[in-house]
Amino acid sequence: MMDTLSLFPTEDGSFTFWSETFQETFHSSHGAKHEAKAKFVNPAKIAERARTQTQLNILDVCYGLGYNTAAAIACLLAISESNGDRTANLAIIALENNLEVPQKAIAAGLVDIWQPAIVKILQTAAETQIVKSETLSLQLLIGDARQTINQVPKKWADAIFLDPFSPPHCPQLWTVEFIQLLANCLKSDGCLVTYSSSAAVRTAMLTAGLQIGAIAPIGRKSPSTIAAFAPIALPPISETEAAFLKTRAAIPYRDRTLQGSASEIIKLRKAEQSNSELAPSSSLRKTLKGEVLNL
Ligand SMILES: C[S@@+](CC[C@H](N)C(=O)[O-])C[C@H]1O[C@@H](n2cnc3c(N)ncnc32)[C@H](O)[C@@H]1O
Repeated sequence: MMDTLSLFPTEDGSFTFWSETFQETFHSSHGAKHEAKAKFVNPAKIAERARTQTQLNILDVCYGLGYNTAAAIACLLAISESNGDRTANLAIIALENNLEVPQKAIAAGLVDIWQPAIVKILQTAAETQIVKSETLSLQLLIGDARQTINQVPKKWADAIFLDPFSPPHCPQLWTVEFIQLLANCLKSDGCLVTYSSSAAVRTAMLTAGLQIGAIAPIGRKSPSTIAAFAPIALPPISETEAAFLKTRAAIPYRDRTLQGSASEIIKLRKAEQSNSELAPSSSLRKTLKGEVLNL
């Protein structure tokens, strides 16, 4: 898979890429490094899990430059470096369809924001797709995540980082069918975290048997989403977010063959939306605006 990548600086001093194919940056402009910790590692409670478990398994969906994986490793290293506290052994399976992304991030020196031990791990992963030591295993599976996900054991992950391009640009990885495959890989007490708060994505999660919760917004207006199986307690979504789940915006993306193209998946959803009896989200937006003005 070919993509033209250009350098894109973010506000915390770390760099990311702009993708010509997806017409989107790989991270928010607020801060790429910061985002990995604040949107993925912290809400998935990686530190807490690493302190209390002997083995910690992370599924990193859309490895990209490797920042989410790097932030997770940094979290465990920080625990063992402070007072030599014991931490879990870490296993990461990462899915990515374009090996050029991590390789170019290394060649351009973008990953040098991480400590040398982590840079070494990212380099080895980009060169050989596998890193193995006594305490860490990292496997980078190259290919369409809709297929490589089949190599991930069922009920394996304590945490899933779901970080594709946005739903309108990469609907393939936000469908009911793909999210169901992710849910199958999640342990009963594991959690899936993503930056998206899209009603369509949240419906896909609910359809896959997960419950959803909100993660306070970081560097943007809308919150992110955390999902887990009942009875795990999650921070509730707001009334407004719940109201969007009852509109056409909540009609999820579908990809029954797990091989659909972005345009096919979008077309299918549009057709379902125009046949739907649900209210369009624009009418809810108008009501909400009215409520704000009436205050
Ligand atoms: C928003 S970026 C991920 C950023 C990444 N988590 C990081 O920390 O750098 C999305 C990534 O998904 C990859 N991607 C796009 N479509 C994919 C697919 N069908 N399967 C696997 N990876 C895909 C892109 O190549 C890109 O690297």
